[in-house]
Amino acid sequence: MSEFKVIGVIGAGQMGSGIAQLAAVAGSDVYLLDKDTQALQTAKASISNSLQRFISKSQLSKEVGMKALARLNYTSNVEDLRFADIVIEAIVENEDVKKKLFAELDKIVKGSAILASNTSSISITRLATATKRPQQVIGMHFMNPPPIMKLVEIIRGADTSDETFDATKRLAQRFGKTVVCSKDYSGFIVNRILMPMINEAFHALYTGVATKEDIDAGMKLGTNQPMGPLELADFIGLDICLSILKVLHAGLGDAKYVPCPLLVQYVDAGRVGRKRGIGVYNYLKSPKQASRL
Ligand SMILES: NC(=O)c1ccc[n+]([C@@H]2O[C@H](COP(=O)([O-])OP(=O)(O)OC[C@H]3O[C@@H](n4cnc5c(N)ncnc54)[C@H](O)[C@@H]3O)[C@@H](O)[C@H]2O)c1
Repeated sequence: MSEFKVIGVIGAGQMGSGIAQLAAVAGSDVYLLDKDTQALQTAKASISNSLQRFISKSQLSKEVGMKALARLNYTSNVEDLRFADIVIEAIVENEDVKKKLFAELDKIVKGSAILASNTSSISITRLATATKRPQQVIGMHFMNPPPIMKLVEIIRGADTSDETFDATKRLAQRFGKTVVCSKDYSGFIVNRILMPMINEAFHALYTGVATKEDIDAGMKLGTNQPMGPLELADFIGLDICLSILKVLHAGLGDAKYVPCPLLVQYVDAGRVGRKRGIGVYNYLKSPKQASRL
């Protein structure tokens, strides 16, 4: 179990593709699965571009980059994960959908395999109840973008074993990451602190305290952050931020986590951030394109 020769990653979006890239560079055979074949094609191109960038900046040798590309397999067939030593799930942030997947995986993967979730906020303990191996279920929360960001937050569910925790920690370290460990309460460490800040930035915009540019510049320059909170929300995905705030509110019960109406409205309008070309900011080239969303 501790060697992780074969790694399955489910969800080929911005997180899953980055995690698959890390795993392949670290020497594992990787099966990246998505139900959407277009997402797999986009992931393939984005991983190849990302590895080329690392090579051109001399942060990775050409040989390692090429070997990593050869270790990556793209699939929509969950049976292809049956030989995986660990499966890292990075699909949509929805508890029911994740539970359904965990129940399915539990029947397919070998008995020794670990089932990890990259969830930003959903209870690992509850995800584990969908399986018959709760001691082998764990949270492995990568930051965005996974190949660049140095942190992995590991979350132990109520029944996660020491063996699973130790093996997962070693894997994150093999990926070159620093590990922090959180107990299994909504939002864990990072999002419990980050999301109220992002929500407050939306409230500041919603109530007309300042322009989006001034809110972001104020926090960037005033608190020495590389991105302002609204810019960061667009980068994370406004849909993801909204889901996390709902989980924080439901799990911790405090009204301070209720999502700002403006955030809800942007998501309702499909303005979910950079991945759609428009969120708080417009990343599309022409206003005509934006109006078609
Ligand atoms: N975006 C971030 O900054 C960030 C950071 C850390 C963790 N996360 C978490 O990672 C997960 C994925 O986030 P993302 O931003 O990569 O989302 P995304 O929307 O970019 O990608 C999700 C992918 O999962 C696929 N998918 C959905 N349901 C599926 C299923 N049942 N089976 C197979 N594939 C399925 C979709 O087709 C899509 O390609 C979420 O749980 C999110 O909370 C996100």
